[in-house]
Amino acid sequence: MLFDNHGRKINYLRLAVTDRCNLRCFYCMPENGIKYIDRNDLLTFEEMTRLITVFGDLGISKIRITGGEPFIRKGIMNFLEDISQLDTIEEINVTTNGSFTIDHIPHLEKMGIKSINLSLDSLDKQRFFDITRRDLFDDVMATYRALVRSKMKLKINMVVMEGRNIEDIYPMLELAKKDDVSIRFIEEMPFNGTKGQGNQSFWSMKQILAHIQKKYQFKKLIDPVSSTSINYQINGFEGSFGIIAAFTRTFCGSCNRIRLTPQGSMRTCLYSNGGINFRDILRSGATDGQLADHLKTLLNQRAKDGFEAEEKRHLNNPISESMATIGG
Ligand code: 5AD
Ligand code: SF4
Repeated sequence: MLFDNHGRKINYLRLAVTDRCNLRCFYCMPENGIKYIDRNDLLTFEEMTRLITVFGDLGISKIRITGGEPFIRKGIMNFLEDISQLDTIEEINVTTNGSFTIDHIPHLEKMGIKSINLSLDSLDKQRFFDITRRDLFDDVMATYRALVRSKMKLKINMVVMEGRNIEDIYPMLELAKKDDVSIRFIEEMPFNGTKGQGNQSFWSMKQILAHIQKKYQFKKLIDPVSSTSINYQINGFEGSFGIIAAFTRTFCGSCNRIRLTPQGSMRTCLYSNGGINFRDILRSGATDGQLADHLKTLLNQRAKDGFEAEEKRHLNNPISESMATIGG
């Protein structure tokens, strides 16, 4: 088993397989996109599989595939198939924007993907366009309906933002009346690929909860271990909802996750700078034992929370990256 220097068990890897995306969500990327990573600098799927095999032997048992938009990368389905066959990996989840995911659903289901997180910030076509800058609302909703019918667990990620989608909070909750879906309201973070823009339309977890309380009665659910969301269920509803304090960072004390960026840099915290680049280490011919040692070294220097991680990085590199280069 893997532990960090604060005694937290680490069993969860978030892997961003690409920084490319066909949407331009304003809280993630500027309108004209970000400078994408050169293809040669990306980890190959073979390299990712090797790292997951080594990390799996050390104690990583849960993986989230993210991006960018993961289904944009050629070969993703074969890669998922490969890692789903590793004995050490008990759970694979995928985050997607749903704009062209629909045809993959039967295959994802068959290989045993446990859950899908669908990014969906509005149920109104115009507001969806204003946020994502792309006219793909109908495609995403078709994916939503197909996912509701599938065996995989479904969660919706909605970043809550003043002046953008506050009016979507109640309709979004209403989806969970009949559908077995978990709606997760996420605080906006300053990872938008734009220097100095910050998270101006941020709503805190407290504001979100107070807003929901005005209209609904709900009960607290028991949260899974190391869950980032605090979860509730409205009386009589099929699904549930949760709030993720991504910016106020209330969950760091039980954080069990590490992140690998598309170019192989390991982040032990979302708010930290890149630590060690595993692509370079792999390509220099490292043995499995050396890869394992590098991971352990990083975990021994882990910040105690997202505030400490942010403080350390501020010295030379304030937050202005896109979520797509870190992994959403
Ligand atoms: N703040 C909060 N969440 C973000 N995401 C992307 N950028 C941000 C941000 N700046 C989340 C969205 C999306 C997932 C891929 O990452 O919820 O669903
Ligand atoms: Fe693409 Fe997701 Fe970023 Fe939106 S949040 S631009 S869907 S990577």
